[in-house]
Amino acid sequence: MINLKNISKSYDDEATFAVDSIDLEIKSGELLALVGESGCGKTTTLKMINRLIEPSAGSIEIDGENILALDPVTLRRRIGYVFQEIGLFPHMTVAENISITPRLLGWSAERMHSRVTELLQMVELNPDGLRNRFPRELSGGQQQRIGVARALAVAPSVMLMDEPFGALDPLTRSGLQKELTRLHKLMSMTIILVTHDMSEALTLADRIAVMEKGKIVRLDTPANILQNPGHPYAQRLLETPVNQMNALTKLLQQSESADSQ
Ligand SMILES: Nc1ncnc2c1ncn2[C@@H]1O[C@H](COP(=O)(O)OP(=O)(O)OP(=O)(O)O)[C@@H](O)[C@H]1O
Ligand SMILES: [Mg+2]
Repeated sequence: MINLKNISKSYDDEATFAVDSIDLEIKSGELLALVGESGCGKTTTLKMINRLIEPSAGSIEIDGENILALDPVTLRRRIGYVFQEIGLFPHMTVAENISITPRLLGWSAERMHSRVTELLQMVELNPDGLRNRFPRELSGGQQQRIGVARALAVAPSVMLMDEPFGALDPLTRSGLQKELTRLHKLMSMTIILVTHDMSEALTLADRIAVMEKGKIVRLDTPANILQNPGHPYAQRLLETPVNQMNALTKLLQQSESADSQ
């Protein structure tokens, strides 16, 4: 369980808060989606959980342990993290990038090699063709998938994912979303997934936290949020997928009635 208690972050002056007194409890094995418009504090919230950013106030516990009292490096080895900006090391090959944490943990070369193969297949990339390439020799979407593979390398119990599928085409994206759901269930990982895509949040998440200006304004299951957005901002976020669905339903109805004529 991850427990954020009254967490705030102010980058500059005390007057403006990127994250403003958040209380959030994420259950073990839960997939929580964090949604909200650009600049509302999603990345800041995520980075405080593995201490890439230190909170200005409040406390964070993982399984009852205060993470602010832990060594940040040890903490980060336990937590998989997919960066919004991907963050592959340019001077390392694909295989080396994926093996960073396994190497730190002292895995054998053989074990790392077979894990890299397994992970590349999982993210739908060809291990033989890609393992020795450098990030600059990959497309944006391929780099993003290497970022996901790297985060999964040691099967962490907690995964923080910041827009992990943003640069992918719809088919690859939906393939990886399915894979993530499968892994989530199989390994009972606790996942926090930041996304701009409300449809992604509605289909993948156990619960959705809607953020606005550094605060959580709505926290509920996808079904409940769909039925009752409960906050004007959540309502606005829902409009895009709901409008898309309505448009599709209309198109289908039109084509059915054309068929029957
Ligand atoms: N290092 C920093 N120094 C000062 N302000 C920052 C810093 N990082 C983020 N901010 C500010 O904090 C606020 C929240 O930023 P954050 O990156 O958490 O937003 P976000 O919800 O992840 O947005 P996006 O969807 O665009 O990624 C923004 O107003 C941003 O400008
Ligand atoms: Mg962000």
